[in-house]
Amino acid sequence: MNYGTLNSELYSMLEQISGAHNVLRRHEDMEPFSHDETENLRFMPECVIKPASAEEISAIMRICHEHLIPVTPRGAGTGLSGGALAVHGGVIISMERFNKILHIDERNLQATVEPGVITQVFQDTVKEKGLFYPPDPASKGSCFLGGNLAECSGGPKAVKYGVTKDYVLNMEVVLPSGDIIWTGANVLKNSTGYNLTQLLVGSEGTLGIITKIVFKLIPLPKVDLLLLVPFFSAEKACEAVSAVFREGITPSAMEFMERDAIDWVMRYVDVSIPVKPEVQAHLLIEVDGNDSDALMKDCELISEVMMRYECDEILFAETSEQKANLWKMRRSAGEAVKSHSIYKEEDTVVPRAELPRLLSGVKSIGKKYGFRSVCYGHAGDGNLHVNIVKEEMSDIDWNEKVPLGIREIFTLCVELGGTISGEHGIGYVQKNYMDIAFNPVQMNLMKNIKKVFDPKGILNPGKIFV
Ligand code: LAC
Ligand code: ZN
Repeated sequence: MNYGTLNSELYSMLEQISGAHNVLRRHEDMEPFSHDETENLRFMPECVIKPASAEEISAIMRICHEHLIPVTPRGAGTGLSGGALAVHGGVIISMERFNKILHIDERNLQATVEPGVITQVFQDTVKEKGLFYPPDPASKGSCFLGGNLAECSGGPKAVKYGVTKDYVLNMEVVLPSGDIIWTGANVLKNSTGYNLTQLLVGSEGTLGIITKIVFKLIPLPKVDLLLLVPFFSAEKACEAVSAVFREGITPSAMEFMERDAIDWVMRYVDVSIPVKPEVQAHLLIEVDGNDSDALMKDCELISEVMMRYECDEILFAETSEQKANLWKMRRSAGEAVKSHSIYKEEDTVVPRAELPRLLSGVKSIGKKYGFRSVCYGHAGDGNLHVNIVKEEMSDIDWNEKVPLGIREIFTLCVELGGTISGEHGIGYVQKNYMDIAFNPVQMNLMKNIKKVFDPKGILNPGKIFV
């Protein structure tokens, strides 16, 4: 595709739409927008625009559509698959000024928000009204709701409460043509035509730009209990995961952390727990609800299950501070790995009971190709974040051998009934592996859907498809 570039006439049109001070063109001003949290990748756009309304975005899109200028929508830049990177240059549309919670409808347990609201801010605001918005990606303190929708983010609570897609009812979206549509209706059930809402969710900013969201909310559970369970074998820890669900318990979080992840986190954040030298992994298990006694019983049963898989002594978090510290450790894993070494993140996901086979496969593939990995993630969802660390590896091995190993890891995921991303998306960094998850017929369907929305290929180009 031969994209156009911006000339002074187009710049002044864009400046008229959003105001000159909301159009950044200087290198140093655009630098923060040249990367997200994906590896160490950097791409400079031609300009960054910070519009404040759907109408402004529509006007920007019409200009870019006419002049074939690539447009990359951007939330808070916390993504892990390069979705917000302007890999073909052009315009970045930053959604940071869309930061209002417009309405909390306590009668219907719904909220209408703009996409630049920080996930945690939204959670805290509805919590004050006794309501709960469960999706809680590790970056919830800084990521935007719009980005969560674009990637269909998950997080620890997904195991009981579902992921971002399970909370969106309706969205206002600007299409690449500049048209503004609503995707559905503000209802809990909807079998009216194709489900445009769910098509847009997880489309990684390639089909439209979300400008308003209607979420469903649920009542806030009143109590939660948290257990940290050490294991001498990482595979045994993984085996214990599916056994809990088979006992009839659905924890509100069931997280896995390998030993290296814990060690690196303790060096990275100011929290520490005693860990015996022989411990190889931990499960962090939370249950929640409204009945403390029932939850205590669940914890007893969970403990029995854990012991069947040869765990060490279980730590029961006594105080809210202890709980917060354990969650801080778990949520900091990705950043801790990043601070340790250059790394590549693989967001593998398999049916829950296949987790032990996935973990042992990842380790033996690592041995074969000569790389070290540290694994952690949402074990209850079968969603394991495999972080391949470069450390002392040569650039040649890193660039040539590691992709072969990743291909094998993803092939294993699919063989086990899983797929190649659970919650981080395909974006820029995993698109070369899409052929593992989809055959040409499936890929063509997706490419044709993209063409219907974006015939000129200007919206977030270079993502999902090779
Ligand atoms: C986490 C992010 C990496 O689970 O998804 O920590
Ligand atoms: Zn995660």
